[in-house]
Amino acid sequence: MSSKDQIVIFDTTLRDGEQSPGCSMNLEEKLKMARLLDEMGVDIIEAGFPVASPGDFEAVNEIAKTVKNSVVCGLSRAKKADIEASGDAIKPAKRKRIHTFISTSPLHMKHKLQMPPEQVLEAVAESVTFARNFTDDVEWSAEDASRTEDDFLCHAVEIAINSGATTVNIPDTVGYTIPEEYGAKIAMLMERVPNIDKAIISTHCHNDLGLAVANSLAGVANGARQIECTINGIGERAGNAALEEIVMALRTRHDMMPYTTNIETEKITKISRTLSAITGFAVQPNKAIVGANAFAHESGIHQDGMLKHANTYEIMTPESVGLTESKLVMGKHSGRHAFKTKLAELGFELGDNALQEAFARFKNLADKKKEIFEDDLIALVEDEVVRENERIKFVSLQIVAGTKGPQTAELTLSIDGAEKITKVEGNGPVDAIFKAIREIEPHADAHLKLYQVHAVTGGTDAQAEVTVRLEENGRTVNGQGADADTLVASARAYINALNKLMMKREGFNPQTASDALAP
Ligand code: KIV
Ligand code: ZN
Repeated sequence: MSSKDQIVIFDTTLRDGEQSPGCSMNLEEKLKMARLLDEMGVDIIEAGFPVASPGDFEAVNEIAKTVKNSVVCGLSRAKKADIEASGDAIKPAKRKRIHTFISTSPLHMKHKLQMPPEQVLEAVAESVTFARNFTDDVEWSAEDASRTEDDFLCHAVEIAINSGATTVNIPDTVGYTIPEEYGAKIAMLMERVPNIDKAIISTHCHNDLGLAVANSLAGVANGARQIECTINGIGERAGNAALEEIVMALRTRHDMMPYTTNIETEKITKISRTLSAITGFAVQPNKAIVGANAFAHESGIHQDGMLKHANTYEIMTPESVGLTESKLVMGKHSGRHAFKTKLAELGFELGDNALQEAFARFKNLADKKKEIFEDDLIALVEDEVVRENERIKFVSLQIVAGTKGPQTAELTLSIDGAEKITKVEGNGPVDAIFKAIREIEPHADAHLKLYQVHAVTGGTDAQAEVTVRLEENGRTVNGQGADADTLVASARAYINALNKLMMKREGFNPQTASDALAP
């Protein structure tokens, strides 16, 4: 798979990323991400941990059926049941990988596994050999490798390769290592493991000290040819190495790091935004590559330099990460045809009903807002498929806010076609709105886990995008709402989350419904 200078990009957003607190995604959301990762050119998608739950199994299985080019990978501990579950889940994939791991550091072997080192080595041989029954592409990981003794790590890696591992992963599980040390570890393995030429060495670095990307690149400089990473750097604790940073560092500093990847970097911005909309995890504004300020120039001196020559303060172009200058594209005079064409340009093909609905919302927005940007349109249509299947629909909202009266929400919803109205006081307008929704459609077991507002575009007339996360009996859903009025966006987001929850309760299959919306 890998030529000498080709770096294999292994994305674990849907596994290591998804297992981080608050980042859980439902099936529809995972499929959407998997399609985007596939289209972007990710070589391997680690789709989940199939033995963990029936939901994880189903997600990996559905992703295996959906993905066109990427290898689909399932994670497994060094246990037969785990490996079997991964083997079954990835079966439909065109190209499949099993990833099996066990800890190798003295600390983990003694306290976590409570296994003597010899038994761990036996488990390495057994698990990799067993995994080879399901696919020829087997990856083995030495969990906590960065704190593992060199002799033992060499021995374990050699056994894994002899047993059939084609990739050996050297995780810095706890984000403890530093670039010099990690690079030396990879160089040491390249030099001392006799059969290392039969496998690719992989990096998997966590970001506890903010060094995940630097450590991964140090690994590559010393012989690693696969990097494990996640979109926006999500993952356990402080996260994993960020895919967009790795790929853009390799592209921008090709003079110092002469390696290539298969990633279409122009797709980075879209996938980053999609993930943050799905999880409700906003990207920090100064985040490298995908932060809102990553290509913004504020100071007079910088603006002056930029106007004279972009290279003065820009080491990569915004276009190279898919950031087109948000331009005015549509206004209140634009017709349905132009709207449909513009959406297609942005990568969305809506079914007739969804288009009708989205167009009506667009006209509404155009009445309230002078300028409509591409980001506004994306925010407007993104949730349309779920909306098409909604039982609860937002009808109208009247708010009393400010310092004088009791803050009150008068809300009208349509439930299965029948309009219901209520007027409720609250501790602030948002509280009043959420109470009103609860009164019209009681859902005592669902708890509000997140309420987040951000402006999609700059300016006081920016469209507000609100995320609401609800949790009910272990099921988590994220609802999104966008509107020029933040309170209306809040109501829409809550209703969207509640609809998703109701769909989940009723066993609604969003995958079939999502055919109406591409991507
Ligand atoms: O961080 C880690 O060690 C892991 C392994 C399962 C590869 O995520
Ligand atoms: Zn990890």
